[in-house]
Amino acid sequence: MRYTGLINHYKDRLPVDENTKFISLGEGNTPFIRLENIPALLGKEVDIYVKYEGLNPTGSFKDRGMTMAVTKAVEAGSKAIICASTGNTSASAAAYAARAGIKAFVLIPEGKIALGKLAQAMMHGAVIIQIKGNFDDGMRLVKEVADHAPVSIVNSINPFRLQGQKTAAFEIVEELGDAPDYHCLPVGNAGNISAHWMGYKEYQQDGKAKKTPAMVGYQAAGAAPFAKGEMVDNPETIATAIRIGHPQSWDLAHKVEKESNGWFDAITDEAILAAQKLLTEQEGIFCEPASATSLAGAMIDIKNGKIPEGSTIVCTLTGHGLKDPDTAIAQCTNEMILINPVMDEVKNAILNNM
Ligand code: F0G
Repeated sequence: MRYTGLINHYKDRLPVDENTKFISLGEGNTPFIRLENIPALLGKEVDIYVKYEGLNPTGSFKDRGMTMAVTKAVEAGSKAIICASTGNTSASAAAYAARAGIKAFVLIPEGKIALGKLAQAMMHGAVIIQIKGNFDDGMRLVKEVADHAPVSIVNSINPFRLQGQKTAAFEIVEELGDAPDYHCLPVGNAGNISAHWMGYKEYQQDGKAKKTPAMVGYQAAGAAPFAKGEMVDNPETIATAIRIGHPQSWDLAHKVEKESNGWFDAITDEAILAAQKLLTEQEGIFCEPASATSLAGAMIDIKNGKIPEGSTIVCTLTGHGLKDPDTAIAQCTNEMILINPVMDEVKNAILNNM
């Protein structure tokens, strides 16, 4: 049967009924890839899988939540949606609003969103409001303005977002036949880690999984309120997607940490970029910097034994590498070769570089 998106696939587990019109772009059902080369480099016996959420329709996991949030907004008669965003939510909101024929307003921090994400929001025709401030300022404004203008908020404080996003956990359990031992995610607002935990618990309660994983949230060191135990007023990181100092799902995420026996930790920008590069060079998988935070953190905790040998680990790769071409190119040191259009020069270029 043709796959037509996650709401249709999991409609029995989502808040929809036979009258709901699904607003979908075929999101979900993303590749689940076993790492072949990186575990050996770590010198540890571990099974690492990545859930490649960058292969959703707009290139990030946000589509899982956005299909639900926009479906429910349209069902409720809404003609416009609004979000604050570090980039991916705005791209996704813009696309699903276009699909639904409604308006999207997106608040983004001026100069701090990756180029690909900006291109998406512009192409889909969203109204782009740049803020002379950061994501946290945008979030505060969105919450305030929703009481004064006819717009539905589609940030992850919208409970339908988490309902859609929990389906990633369902897919993982279906692939593995059970939950993994550890599930590592990059954390910003902590909506996604909370949504995954909902999904794992639901599958365990219904007997579809025997266990639940320890949920491990990694943040960029310059934007690590969970690891620090307090809000951060001026978050900074190269991983702009998770440049957040005042996470919206603060209490929810602490509950996840406790219930799942998981933990939070902070990862340096250097380690994040190194993991992004390693994944592209060793496994052929290109994710954006924020996404590589999950693998960067997992590698540290595998090496130091916090994640023991024999474990099955899933790392979510939240967004595609093409989202942020500037950061990608800036970290590549390999020189390009320029030649005249003659065979000898191509031949030499090959032979000199074998
Ligand atoms: N990874 C990427 C690529 C993201 O874009 C985000 C969040 C996260 C991880 C963190 O997820 O907030 O659920 O903990 N991006 C939001 C946005 C904030 O506006 O696109 P979280």
